[in-house]
Amino acid sequence: MAKREFEKKILCIGAGYVGGPTMAMIAAKCPQYEVTVVDVDPARIAAWQSDSLPIYEPGLLEVVKKARGNNLMFSTEIEANIRKADIIFVSVNTPTKTFGDGAGRAADLQYWEKTARSILSAAESDKIIVEKSTLPVRTAKAMARILNANESGFHFEVLSNPEFLAEGTAVADLENPDRVLIGSRENEQGLKARAQVVDIYANWVPRKRIITSNVWSAELSKLVANAFLAQRISSINSISALCEKTEANVVEVAHAIGMDSRIGSRFLDAGVGFGGSCFKKDILNLVYICEHYGLNEVAQYWESVVKINEYQEQRFVRTMVKVMFNTVAGKRIAIFGFAFKKDTGDTRESPAIYVTKQLCAEKAGVVIFDPKALDNAKRDLRGLEDYVEFTDDPYAAAKGSHAIAVLTEWELFAALDYQRIYDSMEKPAFIFDGRNILDHQALYEIGFSVFPIGKPALKHF
Ligand code: UDX
Repeated sequence: MAKREFEKKILCIGAGYVGGPTMAMIAAKCPQYEVTVVDVDPARIAAWQSDSLPIYEPGLLEVVKKARGNNLMFSTEIEANIRKADIIFVSVNTPTKTFGDGAGRAADLQYWEKTARSILSAAESDKIIVEKSTLPVRTAKAMARILNANESGFHFEVLSNPEFLAEGTAVADLENPDRVLIGSRENEQGLKARAQVVDIYANWVPRKRIITSNVWSAELSKLVANAFLAQRISSINSISALCEKTEANVVEVAHAIGMDSRIGSRFLDAGVGFGGSCFKKDILNLVYICEHYGLNEVAQYWESVVKINEYQEQRFVRTMVKVMFNTVAGKRIAIFGFAFKKDTGDTRESPAIYVTKQLCAEKAGVVIFDPKALDNAKRDLRGLEDYVEFTDDPYAAAKGSHAIAVLTEWELFAALDYQRIYDSMEKPAFIFDGRNILDHQALYEIGFSVFPIGKPALKHF
């Protein structure tokens, strides 16, 4: 049988939380394109080729299965795939630097630069390179400089197409995005390349939702979108502290302000703090850029969003210790939920990491239940094995515990049999609802002392 000719060959370097789902969606929506995803990690690629994908994301397996073997490939052959690709998306990880200048703030771009150099050494024709990873503003320019300072005579046009999908809802976000943003240089070559990337998304996204800009606006918009979202959470979390001191209820306040259409109702849930791979990293990137340009007041303004988040995590543990008679040493505490949000197994920057470590530092015994994140939790808590246990049964986690701390808003937590849980716990039994998802009055009536976020506590003593 003759090999099928595809209209475009698309490659994605990096098979993570963004690259994998995005390429699966492009392949599923565009059978006329060949889409290949490469990664240096063979185990990760093997998982993408199997039915147990390396990430948990509702609905993703169906999308992958629809395209895999037809026009969606996963491979570790990076160079050969670079050679045949027309458009290369780059979605490698850009963690915060842990060393040198900008440590703890700036992005570590070593994977990005390595990728640029492998593109350069393998390419045998002009390419369009699309930044998908979140990167500091002006990376595209640095990338273009590395790529175009070569003797080959090939041209590499670097575009920015930031990804706005959220974990847990990636498939729906990709299928029906609020907007797709594509930034390019605004000269002839840039606009031509931009049109090609617009054409990909136009296969399923209405044109009016595909917006274009210059490269720097696109890069900065990603950081700013995440900074604004995180700022809303820190704002409401700061108010939750005030509510706990007064008789106000943060859920009522959030509802009242959210009905103002200028404010809007989303991202106003107070909780134990935001996590995830993006918010903190992107804000710190923004802070770093501002400091670089001497905009110290602006840097401090955005940094305070991260500080309030740390304060909220600390406050949560402080409350636990305080109300449990100022000591948790030797007490057993059940953690319900370790993922940074529901419907994902991802634990990056999860508030649960801080809370657990702090409880261990207070010499509590911690037992963790999470429906999807136990493997990641074990990795995050390596070295604390003497203090921490893991279980896939919430009733076993609660049995013999003095307290339960709810740290992820998994829906299943609300459906558990709390009478059974109460009966199996040490007394007095405490619940600290770090996500305000349980029926606090019902728990109180069973006999629990209940400590929500930003609402009056319901105590039996
Ligand atoms: C975020 C952005 O939403 C997404 O557009 C971007 O591409 C990547 O970063 P993600 O990190 O997957 O996505 O999750 P998100 O839903 O934004 O939640 C982040 C954190 O904020 C979670 O820990 C969540 O529990 C917390 N959160 C969210 C709150 O505490 N309160 C809220 O009201 C909303």
